[in-house]
Amino acid sequence: MRAVAIDGPAGAGKSSIARKLALTLGFIYVDTGALYRAIGLYTLRRGVQIRDKEGIIGLLKEIEVDIRYVGDEQHVFLNGEDVNGLIRTEEVSMAASAVSAVPEVRAFLLETQRGLARRYSVVMDGRDIGTVILPDAKCKIFLTASPEVRAKRRYDQLLEKGQEADYEAVLADLKRRDYDDSHREVAPLKLAEDGIEVDTSDLTLEESIRTVIETAKRCLGEEA
Ligand code: DC
Repeated sequence: MRAVAIDGPAGAGKSSIARKLALTLGFIYVDTGALYRAIGLYTLRRGVQIRDKEGIIGLLKEIEVDIRYVGDEQHVFLNGEDVNGLIRTEEVSMAASAVSAVPEVRAFLLETQRGLARRYSVVMDGRDIGTVILPDAKCKIFLTASPEVRAKRRYDQLLEKGQEADYEAVLADLKRRDYDDSHREVAPLKLAEDGIEVDTSDLTLEESIRTVIETAKRCLGEEA
């Protein structure tokens, strides 16, 4: 099986780009953030405080998470329930971020991720795919953009959805998440030694997709 790891900060366009890349290569797209989100959701449902590390660790024995494919689409199952429609709220994002800093949670999800990469050729997106989950992946792309550009994209998305948004608040929130993700003790967000950085600050989505497809084909040893 072959693997492309796509890591990078929130808002760099990882999921849209990774999805297109998977389609082009005929690989399965794996969004690993959804696994952390499912655990975040369970923590909220059980009323455990998201800063209560021991409480979260205690919940793991009650949790079974699994990724299945419904057509081309990834669905996350939490104890047999399809929770795909419930994990994209702001509350779950915060909970996912908190649980992802707990080493026991990361260890708990390791095998699910590696198992998928053993069974399928994957484009896997996350924060530590190239550094921890699939260190032998042939192709590791670190997708990034300046905080201001990522905040502007997020702000525009919120307006498009008809939600109220404050650019400065979006930017501050994003910078805090960047800091948390890259300074946590376990599996911090960072460029793998053999990773290739792609900065999309000055690229449109279409240009970013084209660049990533060319980069991936090159490192997989295929003709672009
Ligand atoms: O990519 P996302 O926003 O859906 O991820 C949700 C949270 O999970 C995010 O705060 C970082 C964390 N995460 C992680 O620590 N490692 C991954 N491989 C994927 C996500």
